Amino acid sequence: MAVKIVVGAQWGDEGKGKVTDKLAETADYVVRFSGGNNAGHTVIVEDDKYELHLIPSSILYPNKKSVIGNGVVIDPLALISEMEGLKERGLSFDNFYISEQAHVVMPYHKEFDGLEEKRKGDNKIGTTKKGIGPAYTDKVARRGIRVCDLINEDKFKKKLDNVLEYKNLILDKVYNEKKLSYENILEQYLKAAEILKPYVTDTSKLLDEAYKNDKNIFFEGAQGTLLDIDYGSYPYVTSSNPTAGGVCTGSGFGPTRIDDIIGVAKAYLTRVGAGPFPTELFNEMGTFLQEKGHEYGVTTGRARRCGWLDLPLLKYAVRVNGLTELVLTKVDVLSGLEEIKVCTSYKGDSCNISQAGLQGDNEPIYEIYPGWNKDIKGIQDFNKLPSEAQKFINMIEKEIEIPITVIGTGPEREDAIIRK
Ligand code: IMP
Repeated sequence: MAVKIVVGAQWGDEGKGKVTDKLAETADYVVRFSGGNNAGHTVIVEDDKYELHLIPSSILYPNKKSVIGNGVVIDPLALISEMEGLKERGLSFDNFYISEQAHVVMPYHKEFDGLEEKRKGDNKIGTTKKGIGPAYTDKVARRGIRVCDLINEDKFKKKLDNVLEYKNLILDKVYNEKKLSYENILEQYLKAAEILKPYVTDTSKLLDEAYKNDKNIFFEGAQGTLLDIDYGSYPYVTSSNPTAGGVCTGSGFGPTRIDDIIGVAKAYLTRVGAGPFPTELFNEMGTFLQEKGHEYGVTTGRARRCGWLDLPLLKYAVRVNGLTELVLTKVDVLSGLEEIKVCTSYKGDSCNISQAGLQGDNEPIYEIYPGWNKDIKGIQDFNKLPSEAQKFINMIEKEIEIPITVIGTGPEREDAIIRK
């Protein structure tokens, strides 16, 4: 039996999809604990490509249990559409569970997400506009609607009536926008509730029973450490805790039961949306990484900003998550470069290195490593990597002081060097 967590160690999009899919092979339960359909995981199985947003990657395996924990915010319409798409491709939902305590993304959340971004103008966050921030805001403000409310018609009617009156006042008086119709939302959401009801349960209890029955449980992170509401580049962050600590509050599973916390980082760095990014490349090197790494968002299709690996930020991610091992992805993207730069510290900042990186106030200091010409796509043996690639990986491992156990060498399931 093992309990493992996988979290993004950068600004999301580190290639967690492939890692979680691989780990899902040995897991009995795979659990999402934070975020919503702002996330996007791409999993390639043979010739089939799956893009998952809310549904755990274990759905690709019929006998594994896929769980959406209470820390996730669920857009019922988006979830149903994702489920339908997967059902059409022959996948089963017999082992799918949704927490009754998860909060629901409502139409006004999506509306406010867009309106606030517009109002902020140049200072916008660059959100996915899926209503995630406003849904978490309502959760904390104690006016959220939970899944257990959604599936209870009387409760839902009362809660919606109450909260919509308030939301419509803001739409009308603050934003000068059209009010939303109670009847339309009620009709859409009650229909959705009927579809989702069979999957709703006490998922904390489900996981407790799984643990007591020696099952392998695996928590699948979304987004990344540097987007965390507490530890990320605030305010340019998402509104949840995608870090390892979020697992416990986001699933009702206690910290003493966790064995392993796996971080995932790219061999370079990307981010979507606005916010600081000290090692960002604005030249042809940035375009090279973007094109060779296919750096376009799964959820929004936006081009990702690209830059060099930032070691102070990676060390920060090791610290705030308590990572026990690292998966280094997309090393193959760097093949063909004459030299590879890595940020090792920041100018004028000797004491508070991670904050300098998070706020983008200080210029990065780089060390330069020789690149390699050989195409390493699909290599599975560390010793078959060019010596420059080996040195580059060993250097990172030494700096972060935890083992790099998996090295990604391409997009397919089997394109990886497993070192454990
Ligand atoms: P939100 O989560 O839609 O509110 O967006 C807040 C910030 O997080 C924006 O910069 C988004 O681009 C970023 N973000 C949210 N989800 C993801 C993700 O899955 N991958 C990468 N960035 C994300």
